[in-house]
Amino acid sequence: MENKQFPQRFLWGSATSAHQVEGGLHNDWTEWEEKNAERLAGEAEKKFSHLAIWPNIKAQAQDPQNYISGRACDHYNRYEEDFDIAQSLGHTAHRFSIEWSRIEPREGEFDEKEIEHYRNVVRALRARGMEPFVTLWHWTQPTWIADIGGWENKRTVEYFLRFIKKIAHEFKNEVTFFIVLNEPNIYTAFGFIKGSHPPGIKNILKAKKVYLNLCDAQKRAYKIIHSVHPRAQVGIANSFMHFEEKNRLFFNVFIKDTVEYFWNFWFLNKIKNDLDFIGCNYYSRYLVGFGNETVKTGDMSDLGWEIFPKGIYFILKRLKKYKKPMYVTENGIADAQDKQRKNFIIDHLMWMHEAIEEGVDVRGYFHWSLLDNFEFPEVRGFWPRFGLVEVDYETMERKIRPSAQVYAKICKTNSLLPDSNF
Ligand code: FCB
Repeated sequence: MENKQFPQRFLWGSATSAHQVEGGLHNDWTEWEEKNAERLAGEAEKKFSHLAIWPNIKAQAQDPQNYISGRACDHYNRYEEDFDIAQSLGHTAHRFSIEWSRIEPREGEFDEKEIEHYRNVVRALRARGMEPFVTLWHWTQPTWIADIGGWENKRTVEYFLRFIKKIAHEFKNEVTFFIVLNEPNIYTAFGFIKGSHPPGIKNILKAKKVYLNLCDAQKRAYKIIHSVHPRAQVGIANSFMHFEEKNRLFFNVFIKDTVEYFWNFWFLNKIKNDLDFIGCNYYSRYLVGFGNETVKTGDMSDLGWEIFPKGIYFILKRLKKYKKPMYVTENGIADAQDKQRKNFIIDHLMWMHEAIEEGVDVRGYFHWSLLDNFEFPEVRGFWPRFGLVEVDYETMERKIRPSAQVYAKICKTNSLLPDSNF
């Protein structure tokens, strides 16, 4: 492999979300965790015993405490130490979320101390030469929002926009990049169709209502942020999956196209005129359709997700038609032993580089995640290890994984070096 350079001023970093790393929260998820921890621990064997990692995680996955986010990584108190690490690893940007339940714990009461906290977070990043990318909603809401029916209720959109306006005012001199919503597709599918996330509903009509309300919120937030802060760059971080049909049955091609349209493009098509950039969260390939699988699949992560680096290339190429700047806002792997992460990073970045060579306007990459954290998609808790940095949840000690050093070389040289140099 020859040396592959990335464009000048390409941003390199990692991503987190408040609920997964901060600790000490009180929101609709923490309440749901308290009520569901026992059940989740009881279901662990059925859900996870097929995974190769099961013997290592069995005790943890069957312990109800694993499903309580609690003090998480205590990042709320340790963000400076964590950003020192990110800086030492050559990161030039960082994605994190502002937690609505901290800012507005009761309806209409904004907590100035918490605003000050996030201002300090932004300043800590700037002081270390890292561009802040602020997510405004990463799935959690204040309990008073859940009490009025959450995103099923139109009033939630209005309340959310008031919160957005407040944040835009407070941060207009300090933040350029705002990601309004994180993965509205996953939120709606798991929370309102599959029922595996709070509020645990399985109702397609409710799901539709929620999805449309989120869509409305994203579009109007764009206008509000721009009215307060004309130079802002406002985007979304959506989950994009690479779909393929299980086999060449004619009907399966149709299924694949339909699933792909609804998952990857439906929301984006609705909001594309109110968007400065597209954030792409990419993890894996999914095989859909009927019949036996004839596709040969690759290695799996600890979570059993297939490692399929070329998928990032396919997705970025398909997103090119929107003619917007793009950032990979999440991409990463659950790999407790850090055996696969190095190649995962190199291979995905190689395919991202290929897309850039072919004219796709990708301007930054955020690895998921800086730290091991509380994995809330489908509520797996603390056993999946996504961090560039390992966290000891007893002592809160941080330990940089070897793969993080490989990524650091890429960040620092703004290039993928020939193999022998890693
Ligand atoms: C995504 C979420 C993120 C993280 C990864 C593994 O769906 O946006 O918070 O948990 O999955």
